[in-house]
Amino acid sequence: MYLKDSFERNINYVRIAVTDRCNLRCFYCMPEKGIEYEPKSHLLSYEEITRLLKILGNLGFSKVRFTGGEPFLRKDFIKLLENTAALNLFENIHITSNGTLLEKYLSKLKKIGVSKINLSLDTLDKERFRKITRRDDFFKVMQTFHQLIQESFNVKVNAVIMHGVNTEDILPLAELAVKYPVSIRYIEEMPFNGGAKENNKIFNHKDILQILKTMYPGLSKIEGKHGDTASEYTLPEFKGKIGIIPAFSRTFCNTCNRLRITANGDIKTCLYDNGVFSIRDFIRSGVTDEQIKVKFKELIQLKPKDGFEASKSKNKQIIRSESMSSIGG
Ligand code: 5AD
Ligand code: SF4
Repeated sequence: MYLKDSFERNINYVRIAVTDRCNLRCFYCMPEKGIEYEPKSHLLSYEEITRLLKILGNLGFSKVRFTGGEPFLRKDFIKLLENTAALNLFENIHITSNGTLLEKYLSKLKKIGVSKINLSLDTLDKERFRKITRRDDFFKVMQTFHQLIQESFNVKVNAVIMHGVNTEDILPLAELAVKYPVSIRYIEEMPFNGGAKENNKIFNHKDILQILKTMYPGLSKIEGKHGDTASEYTLPEFKGKIGIIPAFSRTFCNTCNRLRITANGDIKTCLYDNGVFSIRDFIRSGVTDEQIKVKFKELIQLKPKDGFEASKSKNKQIIRSESMSSIGG
């Protein structure tokens, strides 16, 4: 039994940003000096997150993704994963990480049953990595990538593709999908960068596909699952696959299945909305599980038709001052 929103979409996937802190400074996400981080008391505690997940699990949610910021920067993040697994309600517990702190947790992740990991990696060039992330962690992240493959994790690589920055990485990244059973996902840049800059000219999904087709003219499209944001492609010579996520063009909203909880406990029913409700303040006002359940059902009904509807109520300035690090991607 899934919850349906007012557009008959099944909503069964929640993404939770466990922290807004990050040890990288990817320019499409944060300004160089960072963002003003939330004080710890503004973050949902692990007890609060687990309580919300239990309620969502009982409402039919079957997938949770923990993101950040960088989730492994939050103390005892593994504990939250263990508590989530112990609920026995989620078929899929996934994480998105920048890979800089992951290495020492791999065996624990295996044990808990977290086998699907999205790794943010926009380039295979050390210098470009430094320019994009403003940090020098390229080799560490690559080492972790190889270790994840070796240990048979199900790895997706998230690469934000930007004009004049890393379009020359599109084909080298695709090579990874030829060699390894990984999914490479090219993402259109979105305007959530903490106010750092205006991104006028988006390198869009069509531009990305065009470049891929110069090398792989026979790419064939794979039929996607409900709720997929990526259009996926493969070829017989690929061990893995490649996908394109039109995150800015927003062509996938008609099968959206997700709800987001930001680092400071705001519910977002769409990535492009304003944050419609503080579930943190609500939960701290002494409400019962039943009241929270009713609230979630109400909130799901507020999901807008698509990301264009959602952003209508916001002006550009507001969107740009948000950072993906607190939204959770
Ligand atoms: N546009 C598109 N993707 C972004 N991410 C972070 N900021 C942006 C942005 N402005 C991606 C990161 C990460 C995922 C959670 O979101 O690459 O992998
Ligand atoms: Fe950190 Fe991810 Fe933002 Fe980069 S995109 S600064 S890795 S949260």
